[in-house]
Amino acid sequence: MKIKYLLLSGLLFGLVACEQAPKKEEVPQQEQKQEQKVEQKAEQKVEQKAQEVKQEAKKEETKQVVQTSGGALGNPDKGKNVFQSRGCAACHLPASESVGPSLKRIAQAYAGKEEQLVKFLKGKAPAIVDPERFAIMKPQLNQIKDLSEQELRDLAAYIMSYK
Ligand code: HEC
Repeated sequence: MKIKYLLLSGLLFGLVACEQAPKKEEVPQQEQKQEQKVEQKAEQKVEQKAQEVKQEAKKEETKQVVQTSGGALGNPDKGKNVFQSRGCAACHLPASESVGPSLKRIAQAYAGKEEQLVKFLKGKAPAIVDPERFAIMKPQLNQIKDLSEQELRDLAAYIMSYK
């Protein structure tokens, strides 16, 4: 309540002051206008910069997409770390069958279809190696749900290195 009264009396005072000194007001008004213009210009500049930065960020993004969807897989050494740290090695040996097919068998099945392997790892393509036992593999894809596009490509590159 007190604040309201303060604001009201402030307004009233302001009105009275305005009426009493109409001539004096003109000069500061002009000044104010100029100030506003300067402020507006500054704001516009800031906005422009922000837009420029956004546009550059977008360019970078599209660049990355082009680079990664160009067919080049990632770094197999990094992929090896992912493969081991996410528990994939428990069921996939390099060259012999265990619970899951060997990495060699998987790599041979995906030869020339690397993009499809990346899709499979994303859960967006069906199993082609041993589809009847996909029920065992399916929940494992949850272990890599949080990986970035690049990390998935590293993982695929590691698997493909056994071709
Ligand atoms: C519990 C055992 C088990 C674990 C752990 C496991 N897999 Fe599998 N995986 C399988 C089985 C069984 C298959 C065969 C079914 C199939 O082809 O989908 C398979 C198949 C695959 C295939 C071939 C898919 C296809 O097209 O048929 C890939 C690629 C694969 N696993 C990658 C991985 C990765 C990466 C991990 C770690 C995140 C992993 N697996 C963890 C059991 C496992």
